[in-house]
Amino acid sequence: MIRVLHVTGEVAPYSKTGGLGDVCGALPGAQRAAGIDAQVITPLYGSIDRRSFERVGGVTVHLDARDHTATLWRDGHVTFVDVPGLLDRETPYGDVDDPLRFAVLCKVAASLPADVYHLHDWQAGATAFYTRKPMVCTVHNLAYQGLVDWSWAERIGVPEALHSWEGAEFHGKLSLLKAGLVKADRITTVSPTYAREILGPELGMGLDGLFRHRQPVLSGILNGLDPSAWDPAVDAPGGKAAAKAELRAEMGLEDGPLCVAVARAVEQKGLDLVAAAAPRVDARFAVLASGQPDIVAALRAVEVPGRFKLATGFSERLSRLMYAAADFVLVPSRFEPCGLTQIIAQRYGALPIVRRTGGLADTVRDGVDGFVFDDPTPEALTDALKRALAVYADPEAMAQMRACAEAREWSWAGPARAYAELYEGLVSG
Ligand code: ADP
Ligand code: GLC
Repeated sequence: MIRVLHVTGEVAPYSKTGGLGDVCGALPGAQRAAGIDAQVITPLYGSIDRRSFERVGGVTVHLDARDHTATLWRDGHVTFVDVPGLLDRETPYGDVDDPLRFAVLCKVAASLPADVYHLHDWQAGATAFYTRKPMVCTVHNLAYQGLVDWSWAERIGVPEALHSWEGAEFHGKLSLLKAGLVKADRITTVSPTYAREILGPELGMGLDGLFRHRQPVLSGILNGLDPSAWDPAVDAPGGKAAAKAELRAEMGLEDGPLCVAVARAVEQKGLDLVAAAAPRVDARFAVLASGQPDIVAALRAVEVPGRFKLATGFSERLSRLMYAAADFVLVPSRFEPCGLTQIIAQRYGALPIVRRTGGLADTVRDGVDGFVFDDPTPEALTDALKRALAVYADPEAMAQMRACAEAREWSWAGPARAYAELYEGLVSG
């Protein structure tokens, strides 16, 4: 049985800042069901409750001229790396010593047995410095490349062979993601369309040349959705009408067609388009966003009691109530490697309204199980909203589209098989 070790900065339900957590929480289980011995390694952040975990040993790695002693804890198939003072911060990323923190994670990972290491995003890239075993590198989001000062190269032990633009250097800096992309035997990203888009300068984010060079080993494998983690019967036990009544009461919204958006407040997600388009249509809006202050402020500025309500922060509970309550879920992203919120929407009987980009283009069929628009402009989103509201006004048409959305199959079984084929090619060949 092939043993794969997923190296990741987040795993739901233990840690999550976005879809990476959802994917790393779900994919390994589906792989085990498909006959792969899939294990996960991730930091034990301060926010994770370890009380029910089993202590399974320790590892010491030498990095940045010091020894770092990690205690390993396990819950099921997830191994948590506990390095007090280094990995146990409350929030996963954003500290000046992140290169060291994630290098420690990666070096500990490389010391554990595996036939294949599966690297997720920049957080796992440094694994490439510490092993010669087969590696698969999955790009969940090119907007985050782990670009840090080159002086880190020596501190975290980047091999000489990677000290160039053909290695881990990116315009004079050290790129942790690039290290993974250069050294991996296979590169994947989380949708077929995004796998094509990153070959060009517009969405390649400076790495399109590398992706073109590595195109023979690059593929797109569409994310799935874990039906047990995202179950409308659990999150909306009384059905959509009851969930909608609950959300309306909580957010003080009037009755009527309900549009929601749940996203990190970053440029990528196009929440500014929501702020611009919302006043132009007759609908109710509930937005849950956490992140950049300027984007949050733009949403705050268009709040209208009863009609547009913004909630801030990261709330798993509120996000689930919002999907359960929604008639429409807005995903007007400027780019989107896969996107899970539109898939969750469909599963919860809400119609996604998405921009035709990346995984959004691969998961939503315009006029069938959602609405798709092209330009990243308030006008294009407004037009899509108007089309959606016309369907809402026709209960039969709405019910039919809703049924189509709910009938979509988003199992992880297919993607798990696709990854298994990649691993098999590496281990046997
Ligand atoms: P990304 O990974 O780029 O953030 P995805 O659509 O793949 O986008 O996944 C986002 C995940 O994070 C979904 O599970 C979504 O519900 C969740 N999420 C995003 N923002 C919030 C928030 N403010 N509160 C709670 N959950 C959120
Ligand atoms: C990223 C992407 C998102 C994708 C998620 C999980 O954060 O922005 O599109 O769904 O990773 O793969």
